[in-house]
Amino acid sequence: MATTLKVSLKVSVWRGGKDGAFQVFEVPREASQTILDVVTHIQRALDPTLAYRFACRVGMCGSCAMMVNGVPRWTCRTHVDKVVAGDALEIGPLRNLPVIRDLVTDMREFFDKWARAKGEFRGGATREDDFARVRPDSPPRVQADAGIECIGCGVCYAACDVVTWNPDYLGPAALNRAWTLINDVRGKENLERLRAVAGDAGCHACHSHVSCTERCPKHLSPTAAIAGLKREVAKAVLHGDL
Ligand code: SF4
Ligand code: SF4
Ligand code: FES
Repeated sequence: MATTLKVSLKVSVWRGGKDGAFQVFEVPREASQTILDVVTHIQRALDPTLAYRFACRVGMCGSCAMMVNGVPRWTCRTHVDKVVAGDALEIGPLRNLPVIRDLVTDMREFFDKWARAKGEFRGGATREDDFARVRPDSPPRVQADAGIECIGCGVCYAACDVVTWNPDYLGPAALNRAWTLINDVRGKENLERLRAVAGDAGCHACHSHVSCTERCPKHLSPTAAIAGLKREVAKAVLHGDL
């Protein structure tokens, strides 16, 4: 069957740091081509100085996220067909994060916020204790399962306007992580975790715009997680614990 694909794409790619500019490349069109394929073609065939980041190419590592025609996306699983406007693509570094160079952002503040939200598991058991048995259908396990598949890609963070307005805001991924851990019945330090996510830079700053949930490539709902945190913080305040 004859193909209707255009023979080439006009791709504007961000070059440089914060004060950089878009540079246009012509890239051959291929069937089943992903945005990451396009960027890789530019780097391998047209300009080896182009900086970008990826690892797994199968939607697991979370390192390949970029802005594509103004929308944050995981580029290894985004097909050109789905996002191209005529023959034009615009590819830039993730929004809401400092640009190091070209398509590479500095993710430190994104992961520092996970730490600020107490996003690491702290168990209460010792090696003397038996394995914890958590029923798959128990409500906390169901809630924890809903957020556990986060790959730390930063797409939700780039989609969130509150992060843009308030750079201190912990953001959807860190808060989703905190909610997942609060529902892990094997963990401890939940009161400290609630204290860490309460306040002006925490869950109450969320305006429930749901951009994070709409954009999350793993179909998670940070918005629902944040609503859960708001409820638990309110309960802790009513009980005089916070
Ligand atoms: S729901 Fe909250 S965290 Fe998600 S994009 Fe909106 S303001 Fe940001
Ligand atoms: S919640 Fe979704 S969009 Fe946000 S970092 Fe995790 S996987 Fe990426
Ligand atoms: S390269 Fe790993 S998620 Fe895209």
